[in-house]
Amino acid sequence: MCPAVSILKVARMGHPVLRARARPLERGEILSPGVQKLIDDMIETMTEYQGIGLAAPQVHEDVRLFVAGTKGDADVPQVVLINPEVTVVGSATGEDWEGCLSIPDVRGRVPRALEIRVRALDRRAKTHEFGAHGYLARVLQHENDHLDGILFLDRMTSFESLTFLEEFGRYWSREEVVPE
Ligand code: NI
Repeated sequence: MCPAVSILKVARMGHPVLRARARPLERGEILSPGVQKLIDDMIETMTEYQGIGLAAPQVHEDVRLFVAGTKGDADVPQVVLINPEVTVVGSATGEDWEGCLSIPDVRGRVPRALEIRVRALDRRAKTHEFGAHGYLARVLQHENDHLDGILFLDRMTSFESLTFLEEFGRYWSREEVVPE
């Protein structure tokens, strides 16, 4: 039997689940049908809402797991990261626009480290270690923050750039930005 994939309800800012520190998953749990279905559902939900990333707390699941990227995209390939450990490399930072499916229709400029190293388990509970830079590093830092109850607003150094999506499109959008 192959249970149908579901589109999950996304928690919005103000829901306490977005502010909690999520718990690590045990290797055995990762391989369980429940977690495998959660991963499939999260990918489906992220795709449905055109997000570039989605963390488990955003769908009311208190575990250290996120999905990110798009199938076939060389810049931001689709990944499933479990119990990730993100380490900043060097001190270079850059500022760029971010959004969040849990903070609908809002965009703001967020400073992030440009280079990171990531160590995480995949959906088969195998360990991977890799480097990421630029936009991919930004997406992974944004999603990893969700596992610690941190939202992109917390990372902004000024709210001057904070904008609604409609005004973003009218005044600020020169590049396509998708909600994380
Ligand atoms: Ni987000």
